[in-house]
Amino acid sequence: MKTMDASHYLLQVGIDRNKVPSFDAYPYCLPVCRNMTTIDLHPAVTFLVGENGAGKSTLLEAIAIASGFNAEGGSRNFGFATRASHSCLHEVLTLRRGLKRPKDGFFLRAESFYNVATEIEKLQVTGYGERSLHEQSHGEAFMTLALERFRGQGLYLLDEPEAALSPTRQLALLARLHQLVQAASQFIIATHSPLLMAYPGASIYSLEGDAIRKVEYTDTEHYAVTRQFLNNHEAMLADLLRV
Ligand SMILES: Nc1ncnc2c1ncn2[C@@H]1O[C@H](COP(=O)(O)OP(=O)(O)OP(=O)(O)O)[C@@H](O)[C@H]1O
Ligand SMILES: [Mg+2]
Repeated sequence: MKTMDASHYLLQVGIDRNKVPSFDAYPYCLPVCRNMTTIDLHPAVTFLVGENGAGKSTLLEAIAIASGFNAEGGSRNFGFATRASHSCLHEVLTLRRGLKRPKDGFFLRAESFYNVATEIEKLQVTGYGERSLHEQSHGEAFMTLALERFRGQGLYLLDEPEAALSPTRQLALLARLHQLVQAASQFIIATHSPLLMAYPGASIYSLEGDAIRKVEYTDTEHYAVTRQFLNNHEAMLADLLRV
């Protein structure tokens, strides 16, 4: 598969431990911060996976802010904020950048896509399809964004993009991801989707209680649990629902 060489946009993310005021306070108390040394980012696609509350969104948001994105999501040109809910993790984050700068970029924060859509309407930004994003369903709007606004040669940080998408659309997103990767794009994606994280060759980092581990797709809990359930859903349900 064609990917970029060392000239991809973000090479590595880490924490400058000397700058951390206290590992007892949020967000530094999270295991993801306490245990982070460095994460080597894949030239094409890096996934962050792990349990609810493991710190994926906190880390992705800090990478986004340190890369110059607005904390609430959007492209680098968006400067709006409805509330300052982001943590200060970006202040201690170290980013190793490649030689090239991305020509496009987007930070999709799962919770604030509505704000992004509002801002796009206000600015009358072009490149998001013909219909207002507010007049499209959540999934339609997201696919419009991926198909029409993501232009390639970009850095795209996506938090649970699957939240809006049917399984069929998740597969369509995989195909779009591949097109954009071939057009020199780099993705960092926090996800729970066993479909999305199957993207061939991607690096998958699992945020666990005591460490951040690089894992193979078939070793993820998402793959194992989904497979077990689909192969044997009646027995598993009988076991789960026994009173
Ligand atoms: N402002 C805050 N103050 C204290 N703790 C917070 C704050 N914001 C988030 N947390 C905690 O930080 C932890 C990590 O949250 P985060 O949203 O990064 O998890 P996540 O891995 O993205 O989870 P999910 O899979 O549910 O999206 C959670 O336990 C959350 O309760
Ligand atoms: Mg999250």
